[in-house]
Amino acid sequence: MGHGLLNGKKGIIFGALDSKSIAWKVAERCVEEGAEIVLTNAPVAMRLGEINDLALKLNCQIIPADATSVEDLENLISRSTEILGGKLDFILHSIGMSVNVRKKKEYTDLNYEWMKTTFDVSAISFHKVMQTAMKLDAMNDWGSILALTYIAAQRTFPDYSEMAESKALLESFARSFGYHWAKKAKVRVNTISQSPTVTTAGSGVKGFGDFFGYAEKMSPLGNASANACADYCVTMFSDMTRMVTMQNLFHDGGFSSMGMAPEILED
Ligand SMILES: NC(=O)c1ccc[n+]([C@@H]2O[C@H](COP(=O)([O-])OP(=O)(O)OC[C@H]3O[C@@H](n4cnc5c(N)ncnc54)[C@H](O)[C@@H]3O)[C@@H](O)[C@H]2O)c1
Repeated sequence: MGHGLLNGKKGIIFGALDSKSIAWKVAERCVEEGAEIVLTNAPVAMRLGEINDLALKLNCQIIPADATSVEDLENLISRSTEILGGKLDFILHSIGMSVNVRKKKEYTDLNYEWMKTTFDVSAISFHKVMQTAMKLDAMNDWGSILALTYIAAQRTFPDYSEMAESKALLESFARSFGYHWAKKAKVRVNTISQSPTVTTAGSGVKGFGDFFGYAEKMSPLGNASANACADYCVTMFSDMTRMVTMQNLFHDGGFSSMGMAPEILED
């Protein structure tokens, strides 16, 4: 049941691919809390079709956009403000893809052209979204922009490969752009560093299943689920968190503060 935390707010949600996607849960929770949203994903994701079910369920529109294309983003953002009948209050960037991981390249033998694509899709797209929204003057004052990230930006997780550097770049864009948005229109920009979560992107990382169990034991509260992440995103989009900006916020059941977990030693 909603609490009206996002009553009257309008936003764009990137990255709902299927019902396991974190963005899928966020979209559901935002609408439950009273928001009006537009869904978007890469044109290739449209062909899989599941996003149409979500749009039907939430009674919202889908505008395809490749997040690496400024032209697509301009179309998406200007059409969204028309459809929603006003400026935006929130944006969720929930996009990640590594070409080298997909093609099973080892970290010490990466293809640099593929790496550029990985950075473009997973990190530079976040800057493109924010720059396009700013140029189109599409955000309301005190709006909130979030991107999802992972602790491999700070610590080494060998199988996460070049996604670690993508996330470091993503988090840095949040801090740097957060300054400019705050000065311009009090818009806040943050990243949420989420626990391992069973989704298409998450499961693509080598050894994900074993690692999920490891993180579950390492985190005193256990792994944070996609539904819990959606709750956190709602609070960050709401007016209850207006003075939080330029932060990387760990949403991981305590994992990031742990040094040693006795449960793992016992195993
Ligand atoms: N699953 C995890 O364990 C985990 C943990 C921490 C952070 N994250 C992050 O959460 C975010 C969402 O991932 P998810 O786990 O829900 O997986 P997911 O596979 O459901 O979502 C990834 C999305 O990125 C979209 N995408 C890829 N290329 C795109 C492009 N060029 N333009 C627009 N969209 C594009 C995909 O279509 C897909 O919807 C990612 O940033 C991911 O790195 C995931």
